Amino acid sequence: MVENKGKILVVDDEPSQRKMLKANLSLDGYEVYEAEDGSDAIGKVSAGFYDLILMDNRMSQMDGIDALKEIKKISPAIPVIIITAHASVETAVEALQAGAHDYLTKPLDVDELRIKIRQTLEFWRLKAENILQRRRLESLFEASRIVGKSPVMREILETVAMVAPTEASVLILGESGTGKELIANALHQGSARSDKRFIKVNCAALPETLLESELFGHEKGAFTGAVNRRPGRFELADGGAIFLDEIGEMSLATQAKLLRVLQEREFEPLGSTRTVKVDIRIIAASNKVLLDEVKKGAFREDLFYRLNVVPILLPPLRDRKEDIPLLAEHFLKIYNEKNNKNVQGFHPRALDALMRYSWPGNIRELENIVERSVIFSREDYVLFSELPEVIREASGDTLSQEVREGFKPGMTIREMERELIIRTLEDNDGNRTRSARILGITRRTLQHKLKEYDLDQQDAHPADSDN
Ligand SMILES: Nc1ncnc2c1ncn2[C@@H]1O[C@H](COP(=O)(O)OP(=O)(O)OP(=O)(O)O)[C@@H](O)[C@H]1O
Ligand SMILES: [Mg+2]
Repeated sequence: MVENKGKILVVDDEPSQRKMLKANLSLDGYEVYEAEDGSDAIGKVSAGFYDLILMDNRMSQMDGIDALKEIKKISPAIPVIIITAHASVETAVEALQAGAHDYLTKPLDVDELRIKIRQTLEFWRLKAENILQRRRLESLFEASRIVGKSPVMREILETVAMVAPTEASVLILGESGTGKELIANALHQGSARSDKRFIKVNCAALPETLLESELFGHEKGAFTGAVNRRPGRFELADGGAIFLDEIGEMSLATQAKLLRVLQEREFEPLGSTRTVKVDIRIIAASNKVLLDEVKKGAFREDLFYRLNVVPILLPPLRDRKEDIPLLAEHFLKIYNEKNNKNVQGFHPRALDALMRYSWPGNIRELENIVERSVIFSREDYVLFSELPEVIREASGDTLSQEVREGFKPGMTIREMERELIIRTLEDNDGNRTRSARILGITRRTLQHKLKEYDLDQQDAHPADSDN
């Protein structure tokens, strides 16, 4: 029995030609059907699905290209290969324009035909797989609430989707707040162990001896205070996975024990001679550049390579600024819901400032700022003036070149602010409303500052005689 590789419909008004094609293609394992002209083919396509159509262009009833156009209306994605009588460029172009996948010329070279068919079916099979893979990827990210469209982020997400279902150890590296824990969660969610425990240990939070007993457990009396036997986190994670966060903070002695867990999946609890065997997947994270720690002798090289089977390097937010608006929207939705608010978005100037800021605290910092903005915003849109000072300051475009040049190191921030207010008012003929807007503060704040800097005796602009 030859394995069925797909259904092919051969359309030709010459019975001998059909028989020849059928015989050849059946030998290759295809299931071959025949249609004796264009309208017969159209009828067969509307009645059922074919993986590929092989159609002669010159037929007495309806020519191949006309039939092709009709077939495309019924089944737009079906690949059709047109066979033209002779090497006519016009017919070939016409066929391709009508939606043919490819064309071949007579006299038919059967080997060429077989290669074309194999390639065409392979092309569609891969396409279908890609679509499925992409869908799987997207649902994983939706479930994990991971946002990101930048090329680096997409690449990372693809890696996550590929390694999640495997048993491989994963090392996630990235600055603080870049999403290491979020990625770790997605890795566990996408694995076959997702319904088992995912135990998290922050290695930086505990002093060395406590960390060891936390990880490996201890026997009664193993150390002062060990009044009972206590299983460690590795034992609790048995069958599931463990997340070793801030692994760069682990002492060399503990690293040696961890190495054994990685290699043998076994260890001895503190004060015990009993060997515990565990079946666990290990995911680790660090905000240190671990390879530097290896060079310094602070991290075991063998452990590093054991963990680094699949490294995932999360870039800082400042290196993927195109994700900022998406993330800001994402957190806006979350915190609107949490706080029962309905903030619509960020004023363009505010968003611009978010884009210019360098985000040393990365996504966590952005999340905090959005949360704060949602809570304090009194308008439909978060305004520039409502953003924290660090962010407004980073948005240097409030200063004209001329003004910027007047500020020199050696000035205090107060002097600079006073000077900036004076110059902005001068530039705007004393119009306080406009100056306040340019300075990115409310008019009330400007008035307050004018008083503070002893500038309020100056005459206000006539247009400003509101209140
Ligand atoms: N791509 C992302 N999409 C949506 N939210 C994200 C993304 N990355 C991070 N976050 C959110 O940002 C916050 C910080 O992420 P997380 O705790 O995973 O960072 P971390 O790298 O573990 O930080 P730290 O090193 O400080 O522990 C979390 O609330 C997380 O949900
Ligand atoms: Mg973390």
